[in-house]
Amino acid sequence: MHLLGIDALSREAIVRLLDRADTYFNAAREAKASSAPIATSRALAGRSVVNLFFEASTRTRVSFEVAAKRLGADVVNVAAQASSVSKGETLLDTVKNLAAMGTDVLVMRHPASGAPHFVAGRTPLHVVNAGDGAHEHPTQALLDALTLRRHKGRIEGLRVAICGDILHSRVARSNALLLGKMGAKVHFVAPRTLLPAAADELGAHPGDIEVFDDFDMAIRGVDAVMLLRIQNERLASLSMVPSTAEYARTFGLTAARAAALPDGVLVMHPGPINRGVELAGGVADGARSVVLEQVEAGVAVRMAVLESLFEAAA
Ligand code: NCD
Repeated sequence: MHLLGIDALSREAIVRLLDRADTYFNAAREAKASSAPIATSRALAGRSVVNLFFEASTRTRVSFEVAAKRLGADVVNVAAQASSVSKGETLLDTVKNLAAMGTDVLVMRHPASGAPHFVAGRTPLHVVNAGDGAHEHPTQALLDALTLRRHKGRIEGLRVAICGDILHSRVARSNALLLGKMGAKVHFVAPRTLLPAAADELGAHPGDIEVFDDFDMAIRGVDAVMLLRIQNERLASLSMVPSTAEYARTFGLTAARAAALPDGVLVMHPGPINRGVELAGGVADGARSVVLEQVEAGVAVRMAVLESLFEAAA
């Protein structure tokens, strides 16, 4: 079994993963509260997980590693810059060699959209997409959904504003699909240059997404505001954002805007945050922010995902 995108997950499959992740989240919280070690299981004992990352990552890579270890798996981390890919080896040859060593799971991040899908059809390994280009980042959407559900008690009927560089964001795409499948509505807001064509069609159904030009209109009546970093490494032209200061004023969640939000509106960010650009530092650290809880949920969600790969294969 693979996890390549939210695209291929049913509503029932999403709920099953979130329910299981919630159990892991609570267990880790309880252990931390009593200063006890977080319990590890043997669910993946004897299995090995390879993290193959062709792009920078802190949260995603480390949390897949922590998750795999909590399930008793062995973990190997491969940074592509230090692998034979830099000597001209193809992606597929690299993966075939990893599989020949008897590994079981390939957690993969790649700048090309569709790279994990290409590999998944050509290897016996279970492939998990940890982010492919501007396409999908399914475990991020699942951890965002878990965070929302823990605070709001449900996902159905919620409204979530997703703000920033939607054009280059796999986080926005996976979230739009998941929220749509679960019956929530999404507001997209971005400068025109950072919005994909037909952005309103990126949901699971017609009508899931409403596109706004104006940030203040977009965050009106929402349950959560999710900010995205401008992905400078993917920008075709720097002229897409003429001035950082102007961007922060027009499309950033400033302290003043955050203060005007009604009680209970969550502030979310997948990280890495560019403080003072899309999100004011004080708001990132403030009472509404669930940014670090999203990271906490990331470990729980990745445990649930890794475990599910083997069950479905049985
Ligand atoms: C994001 C990513 O890599 O897609 N980060 C993450 O995985 N939490 C978003 C980003 O890089 O801005």
